[in-house]
Amino acid sequence: MKTKKIHIVLFGIGNVGSTLIDQFQKANQQIVEQQDIQIEFIAISNSKKILLADISREEDWRQTFEASAITYDLENVLNYVSLTHCDQLIAIDATASTSFVQYYDRLIQHGFHIISANKIANTLDFDFYNALRKTLKENKKLFLYETNVGAGLPIIDTIRNLHDSGENITRIRGVFSGSLSYIFNQFSNEDVPFSRILKAAADKGYTEPDPREDLSGNDVARKLLILARELDLQNEFDDIDIENLIPVDKRTGNKEAFLNSLTELDASFQEAKNAQEKGHVLRYVGDLYGDLFQPKGNLKVSLVSVPQESSLGSLKGTDALIEIFTESYGDQPMVIQGAGAGASVTARGVFGDIMRLAKNHA
Ligand SMILES: NC(=O)c1ccc[n+]([C@@H]2O[C@H](COP(=O)([O-])OP(=O)(O)OC[C@H]3O[C@@H](n4cnc5c(N)ncnc54)[C@H](OP(=O)(O)O)[C@@H]3O)[C@@H](O)[C@H]2O)c1
Repeated sequence: MKTKKIHIVLFGIGNVGSTLIDQFQKANQQIVEQQDIQIEFIAISNSKKILLADISREEDWRQTFEASAITYDLENVLNYVSLTHCDQLIAIDATASTSFVQYYDRLIQHGFHIISANKIANTLDFDFYNALRKTLKENKKLFLYETNVGAGLPIIDTIRNLHDSGENITRIRGVFSGSLSYIFNQFSNEDVPFSRILKAAADKGYTEPDPREDLSGNDVARKLLILARELDLQNEFDDIDIENLIPVDKRTGNKEAFLNSLTELDASFQEAKNAQEKGHVLRYVGDLYGDLFQPKGNLKVSLVSVPQESSLGSLKGTDALIEIFTESYGDQPMVIQGAGAGASVTARGVFGDIMRLAKNHA
């Protein structure tokens, strides 16, 4: 049998992208020997520079990038890949860029499948979403993005398989954010002010550098929207009812001023905690519900009080937990739980998408 040859261009070598290269280099030999697939990372880039060289076996690829990367230009990349010969080309979007998705069309038309950790392409307006799928279909290319929701957890694949096999999904509910999971798990367990928990989460690197990006609820809302669209619902981001956890007067202004005023958040969160029924805890939950056979579903992201013994109530650490309710499973949802963020599990999820594509579609 002929060895399959897969060429990868990796855009973004930050936390996720660089961890992916490290994981790949460790697993590479085994993949060639056991699965007869030869994967090469033929180009890697950050936002300014690109290295047009195979780093698959480079021991110190960071040093090679520093020494030999050139100014980054998509045309250079396209010209370069047209000189290489392989069975399949994959572009990986491991950027956090809002503009990089504008390159997807050119990449697909140039023969690339796309794998993305970046949520942007799936959360822009529905016209963009549909146009991208049309381009993919016309060019017989795939777009995989398992890590868009729950990092390495198999959430999108599970939902897609259920939906494609005709199982009626009636509700999806869960804690989608590792940082907000930690914050409310700790706040419910400990008798300390909210600001102290939030500061600890920021110090441990669980939140974005400006924790307002987590507390606004937008990231959770994007994940919920991605799942809704997997069910063929035509929701837009603006349809989502989001409870923003930042007081209105603190939503603007610089990060330092916000971080210096965290204690001003304490009273309202303590009030929400005290107002709960006995044995209940607070969780920041995304909920997709309503008649999911209509063109649009109901999407709500909010702070809710749940019984401590429930699946959501017993969450610990930074775990994500997603409940999938379907007709066959009845009142007992299918539950997927585990680390929902972090470079290592996310890179492993991207790696899973590479292998899925390499094994089934190359
Ligand atoms: N970390 C997680 O736990 C996690 C979980 C799930 C999904 N994700 C998603 O994974 C993506 C990457 O996350 P990260 O934590 O690795 O981010 P990061 O550390 O900020 O790295 C982003 C990388 O993308 C590069 N970049 C930015 N714009 C680019 C462009 N236009 N073209 C090429 N490269 C560009 C950056 O280059 P510069 O250094 O030059 O700016 C950097 O190398 C994000 O979309 C994130 O939402 C992350």
